[in-house]
Amino acid sequence: MLEEEYERDRRRLPWHLRRRSTPERPFSYEIRPVTDADLPDVREIYNYYVTNSVVTFDEKKWALGQWRDKRADLARLGLPFLVAESPTGQVLGYALVQPMSAKSGYRYSVETTIYLGQAAAGKGLGRAMLEALIAACEAAGIREMVAIISDKGAEASVALHERLGFVEVGRMGRVGYKFGRPLGTISMQKSLNPKKKRRLFAR
Ligand SMILES: CC(C)(COP(=O)(O)OP(=O)(O)OC[C@H]1O[C@@H](n2cnc3c(N)ncnc32)[C@H](O)[C@@H]1OP(=O)(O)O)[C@@H](O)C(=O)NCCC(=O)NCCS
Repeated sequence: MLEEEYERDRRRLPWHLRRRSTPERPFSYEIRPVTDADLPDVREIYNYYVTNSVVTFDEKKWALGQWRDKRADLARLGLPFLVAESPTGQVLGYALVQPMSAKSGYRYSVETTIYLGQAAAGKGLGRAMLEALIAACEAAGIREMVAIISDKGAEASVALHERLGFVEVGRMGRVGYKFGRPLGTISMQKSLNPKKKRRLFAR
């Protein structure tokens, strides 16, 4: 046996010991309306950002009861509240809209909220969820969507909204305060093509 043949065979492990290349699992999910059973996961996703970031100006964790009330309010107003679920049943993130103001003249305008679990961010899910949210708002007769985004640490959110046609319409400085420092907001807006007429006294 030639020396190089010996070296080649020596380095090759028997087939059952060889490392198999594991095919990368595709990142798949289903986007659907929220159910009550999803709310504990939604709470965990949001509370992570409450505790660890300035992307929300909330400083106190939300309790399950607050999420139940929020879900009931949005359902009563006919406003979308979506979740993305993994094939194993895990909630990966959520997106919702709420009235821009409780004053009835704002009835065609909503404010967006979107949060993904850390492991699900940066893989295109945010885009898919915001697209689904926009479509659901158009189906519900909404005319204007606004996003009020922290001016620190929310670059992904600004980029995401920009990609889907939101335009920056203003900034406010020092309106928020968290972790001992003042924070501002960036306002972004998108006009929709509503597919149905919204009831005049929908809220
Ligand atoms: C904001 C958030 C929903 C975005 O969702 P995502 O799945 O991470 O974003 P996507 O992977 O769908 O990316 C959407 C676009 O934004 C761009 N983008 C994402 N993160 C970015 C970043 N940090 N900086 C610049 N651009 C970024 C992507 O390149 C992509 O553009 P493309 O479609 O042209 O390729 C998600 O990151 C998140 O939940 N972040 C923490 C919570 C948060 O900030 N919520 C918003 C509060 S206002």
